[in-house]
Amino acid sequence: MAMKLTESQAALLEGEKGAAFAKVMKTLVMYGEAFGAEKMVPITGGQGHLVTSFGLGVMKPVFSLLDGIIREGALPGQKFTVDPRPLDPDVPANFLQKLFFKIMYSKQEYYEGQLRKLGLVNDDGFTCTCYMNEVGNVPKKGDILSWAESSAVVYANSVLGARCNRNSGIIELFGSIAGCVPYFGLLTDEGRKAAWVVEIKTSGKPEAQVLGSAIGMKVMEDVPWIRGLDAWLGTTLDAAARDYLKDMGAAAASNGAVGLYHGENLTPEAKEQGSALISPGAKTYVIDDAELERVRAGYPCIWKDPAAEPKLCFVGCPHLSLNQMQSWTAALLEALKTAGRTRLAIPTVFTAAPAVAAEFRQSPAAEALKKAGAVVSSICPLMYMNNPLCGTMPVITNSNKLRTYTSSRYYRDDEILKKIAGAVK
Ligand code: F3S
Repeated sequence: MAMKLTESQAALLEGEKGAAFAKVMKTLVMYGEAFGAEKMVPITGGQGHLVTSFGLGVMKPVFSLLDGIIREGALPGQKFTVDPRPLDPDVPANFLQKLFFKIMYSKQEYYEGQLRKLGLVNDDGFTCTCYMNEVGNVPKKGDILSWAESSAVVYANSVLGARCNRNSGIIELFGSIAGCVPYFGLLTDEGRKAAWVVEIKTSGKPEAQVLGSAIGMKVMEDVPWIRGLDAWLGTTLDAAARDYLKDMGAAAASNGAVGLYHGENLTPEAKEQGSALISPGAKTYVIDDAELERVRAGYPCIWKDPAAEPKLCFVGCPHLSLNQMQSWTAALLEALKTAGRTRLAIPTVFTAAPAVAAEFRQSPAAEALKKAGAVVSSICPLMYMNNPLCGTMPVITNSNKLRTYTSSRYYRDDEILKKIAGAVK
């Protein structure tokens, strides 16, 4: 093998700790070599994060792989959080859908048992926003991670300044087991340089989800340097800026394949290194009002009947922060008042990490939201939608990631608000 390994890494590969560790290491070496990595670097982030959160009955090879790892004691050296669960009985579903979920995710309990044995932090560790303070899996600047969830990877790289590639499911677990990851791409200084300069020239604050979508579709897997965001977000990563970047990044990561962006005068590496982070010959992409409108107008509606009444609305993909839960509730109550209603016109699910939802439930806003008929859940809306029964339902969302991967229809925050409050059809 071409990759240079340290003595302890080579010993692991040669089976010093058993056959399972050796296979894990061999897989990582092959994975790294496919991307031209010449060495492995130790993981320094405190916790891992796994993307596979669902016990799909058909994933038999994964279950038997994990059984083998557990049996041979090749456990990760770090605890980990996991993406959101696919099931929540509180999320509206009809009898047939519930039956279908039961069959589809028939291995959920079994899989969660495996996760516990492997090192799941706790039963509340299921969220894609593991980096929220309430959850506690918050990498530090410069930490090397082995994660795969695209929305979490782009956040960790860009907002926190940690270093992580867009790994695949299982590979990220293997990194946590071996304690090291191949050194390439976004782990390297060179790989973190911007190949694009995105200039924001809009007349108002761009909708985070549409801006991220525009950037993702243009730069694909490249790193963009975003100029002009500070005019709308300021130069400090306060809670509002972090929430905005969370949603923008998830859209860029799913509508394209962005794993890292730099916000001029805003994100940690951009502040520290300035324009030295822009590659010579970087291309330019100007985003103005017309460009945002062009991108937005290009989203197809794939409902069987585009004029159908929405049956469900999801807000919170990626999961909402506590501040977002509070501000959505306040805005919704206001919109209901204006519309002269007390109950929502469309069943709506707000999703947040279990720890965030628990804290929100302590606040008076939670009771008001419940009275209005909304559900607070920690489900993954994508997992809910990705089956033939839910896939044909007219579902609306403010998430560009959910729109991209499912048949749900995207609306801006203000449009969603009016729709669920019954102010417009
Ligand atoms: Fe999170 Fe599921 Fe959306 S993992 S980003 S809620 S698709």
